[in-house]
Amino acid sequence: MSAREPIMATTGLSATDPQALLDAVLRSNAGTTEPRLRQILAAAIRHLHAFALETELTPAELDIGLDFLVAIGQASGPKKHEGILLADILGLATLVQLRGARHALAAGGTEPALVGPFWRSGQPLRSHGECIASAETPGPRLTVRGRVCSLDGRPLAGARVETWQASPRGLYDNQDASQPNMNLRGRFETDAEGRFSFLSVRPAGYPVPTDGPCGELLAAQGRHTMRPAHLHVLVVAEGHRVLATQFFDAEDPHAHDDVVFGAVGSLLRRFEPDGQGGYTLDLELRLEPGATLIPKCPLP
Ligand SMILES: [Fe+2]
Repeated sequence: MSAREPIMATTGLSATDPQALLDAVLRSNAGTTEPRLRQILAAAIRHLHAFALETELTPAELDIGLDFLVAIGQASGPKKHEGILLADILGLATLVQLRGARHALAAGGTEPALVGPFWRSGQPLRSHGECIASAETPGPRLTVRGRVCSLDGRPLAGARVETWQASPRGLYDNQDASQPNMNLRGRFETDAEGRFSFLSVRPAGYPVPTDGPCGELLAAQGRHTMRPAHLHVLVVAEGHRVLATQFFDAEDPHAHDDVVFGAVGSLLRRFEPDGQGGYTLDLELRLEPGATLIPKCPLP
């Protein structure tokens, strides 16, 4: 160290040697007893230090970032999770989900997509062919027919299929006082051939919530806020990994520009005209064998 180099408060650290600081912080993490937590913390420390160096982050900019994280927490509550939205609009949630499913995808499994914030617990059990839309829900009729199978094509009987969607006005039942409770939602059980079917109305795209700090971030980035129209499906079958995915209307103007990056190619579908003013959607859901871990349901 030269005589002119400023000495930092912690012995041995110098303002011109960021590696020494990084090494000291990593050593402070070495006592973390849980191995996976130790690994994640070490990687986070390395990347945060590299981020600050790459951007030459100033103290004032660090304060802005920390205030943003505080605002994310303050905007969250029992009915809203701004942190999920942040992970979504940065593409982090989609990245984590796709990486976790890469082995199943390589074997021909159905691509997953985000569960999202609108799945509700206690969705009503419905019979095959039943309509999930109330009589007051306007919009073009949609007939959905699906088949659940394992990677080898073997049908999965008795699988639980949950579905939920926005209305043709782009609103879920819990956002819209004009819709009855549990409208456009249902739970089905597959038959001996792994099949299920239901009637509905064609969904519309909708904006993500923009009344919190994520809305400010999207505005600062000059981004739109729209998700393409989609149908959520979650499948639980014994001996298989749970599949949560979404099927997107390939004709939606944002089909290739989803604000949360969930509309990947294999999940785009053409809603086929049925010749009577309605549409049909045929789905095959291929599940990977494994532990059946049901994700946490975000809404009652
Ligand atoms: Fe959705």
